[in-house]
Amino acid sequence: MPEGKFTLLSFSAKDSPILYLAYLKIKYDVFVKELGWAKLPHSAIDKIAYADPYDEIADFIIARYGNKTVGITRVIKIHSNFPHKEFFEPILHTKVLKPFQNKLATLNAVAIKKKYRRIKVWNNSRQVTIGELILVKSVNHLQNQGAKIVFITTDPNGAGGAFFRKLGFYTISPSFYYPHSPTILVNMALVINDKEHFVKLNSPMLANCKAMSKDERIMVQYLNNRSTTL
Ligand SMILES: CC(C)(COP(=O)(O)OP(=O)(O)OC[C@H]1O[C@@H](n2cnc3c(N)ncnc32)[C@H](O)[C@@H]1OP(=O)(O)O)[C@@H](O)C(=O)NCCC(=O)NCCS
Repeated sequence: MPEGKFTLLSFSAKDSPILYLAYLKIKYDVFVKELGWAKLPHSAIDKIAYADPYDEIADFIIARYGNKTVGITRVIKIHSNFPHKEFFEPILHTKVLKPFQNKLATLNAVAIKKKYRRIKVWNNSRQVTIGELILVKSVNHLQNQGAKIVFITTDPNGAGGAFFRKLGFYTISPSFYYPHSPTILVNMALVINDKEHFVKLNSPMLANCKAMSKDERIMVQYLNNRSTTL
């Protein structure tokens, strides 16, 4: 078992430069070194990813054991532009998404240091992985900012795809190639209050569920139908 007290922290780059540095280091270790995102701006000498323009408007959630950062993610409540908006254009223009224009969010750079993957910790009397816990906290953070739907892009055949599917994300696009990515990618979406789906999956996302509106129900139906036709 890792040493030190386990904590989850949320912060902005401006307010917590030291934690932000820890985020950039893990981003480099996992995405550049391990997964081969060679085009992600980085310094191989300093072993760090460079700041991304969207970092300024983002919040970060990290998991720590003692003073050691073991997992990261970046969360953004969408106002206008957002990272890789172009990937989501088809769904952004659907009628079913109209009621959610100010209720969208996105998650990027979800990464757990290799030796901490699949490690479980106790949370609200159930065991969850550190990755799951970061996601629950991230979604809760976005929910507190008014988000109802969360978008992500990931490798459908890697750990990311398996991870997001088991949490309750729906696939919303066919797989596609992107020149910067070492693997194919897919877009996914989560409806934060999708209780029935989370119960079926026994997903820890259940912790964030509130009552569902009619629009959210319609959205879930749409995503369900869409994911079965992809
Ligand atoms: C994705 C990630 C954050 C998940 O963290 P984790 O601690 O491994 O999370 P979990 O153990 O809860 O879930 C991982 C799931 O992926 C599956 N998995 C693990 N490695 C896999 C692989 N190489 N290929 C396919 N599936 C894999 C596991 O079976 C597991 O599902 P299970 O609970 O049904 O067994 C972590 O694997 C990681 O940092 N990966 C590299 C970065 C990345 O791919 N990020 C996602 C895109 S932003």
